[in-house]
Amino acid sequence: MAKINLKLLKIEAKKEIKKTESLDYLNKIFDKYLGKKGIVSEVLRSLKSLPQTKRKKTGEAANDFKREIGELIEERKKIFQNAGYKIQDTHFDITAPGKKPVSGHLHPLTLARKEVEEIFENMGFSVVEGPEMESEWYNFDALNIPKDHPARDQWDTFYLENGLLLRTHTSPVQVRYMEKNNPPLRIIVPGPVFRHEATDPSHEFELFQVEGLMVDKKISVANFKAIIDEFFRRFFKKDVKSRLRPDFFPFTEPSFDISITCVVCGGKGCPTCKNSGWVELAGAGMVHPNVFKNAGLMPHPSADGWQGWAFGFGLERLTMMKKKINDIRLFRSSDLRFLNQF
Ligand code: DAH
Repeated sequence: MAKINLKLLKIEAKKEIKKTESLDYLNKIFDKYLGKKGIVSEVLRSLKSLPQTKRKKTGEAANDFKREIGELIEERKKIFQNAGYKIQDTHFDITAPGKKPVSGHLHPLTLARKEVEEIFENMGFSVVEGPEMESEWYNFDALNIPKDHPARDQWDTFYLENGLLLRTHTSPVQVRYMEKNNPPLRIIVPGPVFRHEATDPSHEFELFQVEGLMVDKKISVANFKAIIDEFFRRFFKKDVKSRLRPDFFPFTEPSFDISITCVVCGGKGCPTCKNSGWVELAGAGMVHPNVFKNAGLMPHPSADGWQGWAFGFGLERLTMMKKKINDIRLFRSSDLRFLNQF
């Protein structure tokens, strides 16, 4: 075997490795120097025939060559392999599952509103709307709340420069509707109302109310109880109990508030119901004779007079109960972490 200068060979091998542009060529370099039939293997095989003095030195040099060049080849290989991945990335894998586009959804209050409307529609009620900018007459006077009556304080009002106000409740639509439609009638009135109030976890200055009104010849509190209980059952999809307690509203007589057994704890008592087991959800009552008169209808007990009940509840309260939400301000916070849960 011709004498091989491992030092020179190493320099040559390094140059070649540096110049390689493909994995294929790199494999060839490996074969040439380090493969079974490569130059270094040949040197190692020929050690036996060398004189004892040279054997050790040459052996060491050959092993050193093998290690150093082997490492260089590995390093270079990695560069090619990584580049290979990048190239693969630009390929279009038609078997890969697609990415779902992020789609929005309806606001929890809109969903609740639709649900409420559907339930009442199925019980024969029409869905009616009224103006959000309202006159004092409809918002107060026609509802039997005279100008200097302290009951007006119950509704902190935004008065507008044009002489109108932002309605503080949906009750004015009772009068508006009865002016134009003859009983018997059953309506609900969903819509925003506004209160000049400070906000806290249970108060907002913009609320979403649902008003209900049923007028006919022989209507009693029992009719009301039956319908509202059925509504609660369908809305909460549970057998919730309700109770009526005396209250005061100028536009109803008698008036009462409606509470239901707390949906969160099932009536056992928890922070949501302040340990009482009951949650107040709505105001209601039998339509006051003055309200009928202001709408141009004859009230009971005149011959052919009308009777009716009305209620009003906040959609936020109702939704908070159903979805176990503890802060009313979340609805209008535009916080996606909240909204995405619905
Ligand atoms: N309008 C009342 C409010 O905003 C709620 C209400 C109470 C409505 C009794 C009614 C009713 O129709 O009969 O506080």
